[in-house]
Amino acid sequence: MDKKINIAIDGPAAAGKSTISKRVAERLGYIYIDTGAMYRAVTLLYIEKGKDIIDSLEDVEITFKREDGNRVLLNGRDVTEEIRSESVTSKVSEVSSFEAVRSYLVSMQQKLGLDKGVVMDGRDIGTTVLPDAELKVFMQASPKVRAERRLAEERARGSSIDLEQLTAQIIKRDELDMNREISPLVKAEDAVLLDTTDMTIAEVEDFILEIAQNKIGEE
Ligand code: CDP
Ligand code: CDP
Repeated sequence: MDKKINIAIDGPAAAGKSTISKRVAERLGYIYIDTGAMYRAVTLLYIEKGKDIIDSLEDVEITFKREDGNRVLLNGRDVTEEIRSESVTSKVSEVSSFEAVRSYLVSMQQKLGLDKGVVMDGRDIGTTVLPDAELKVFMQASPKVRAERRLAEERARGSSIDLEQLTAQIIKRDELDMNREISPLVKAEDAVLLDTTDMTIAEVEDFILEIAQNKIGEE
């Protein structure tokens, strides 16, 4: 049987990372891990309980329930919808820049990748979490297209946020993520750069799957 590999997908907000990672994982029979959801869950707790939670992160348990479409559980509570709220989105980059938060979540993520067969998406997967991943992709798309994609999602959720607000939010979050001191958003030297601006989801999926199959064949 082919050996399993790890696949790291990084890039800015709304480049298409989670949509593609989920599909690639499904096609390969791998596990998908959404590291952004983990940072969002810690941020939700921070908003609810205050900054003291940073000193007791070992009590924070984040798990994924795969049966019902990747639900996110925070200490057993289903927070899948709440972690996508406006208040979490506008605070998540700040909370993600704390050293204690990063080291706690990075070590949790590294454990999840130990047995291989994982597709993990985030900002620092190829550089910090899984530097030995056999396939690394850095996904990009123009800010305009990314804001339009997010707008469609927000509309589907019933939100009234407009394109201008969303564009500003995405640009601000990218800036914070790229400029933080610890494991900033940056392309790993050995990552494949993929601009999805003019690509459909199926095209991106096929592109990544082809490289993945080649890498799996080499193992
Ligand atoms: O899906 P979206 O692009 O909106 O973001 P996300 O993947 O849910 O990530 C939310 C935020 O978590 C990012 O803007 C980063 O501030 C942080 N994050 C991080 O610092 N490191 C990661 N590996 C993943 C997310
Ligand atoms: O995870 P990330 O924030 O990078 O992006 P995403 O949540 O996977 O994608 C944001 C939205 O763009 C989703 O609604 C996708 O369906 C859509 N998308 C797209 O229209 N075309 C692509 N090539 C990739 C994603």
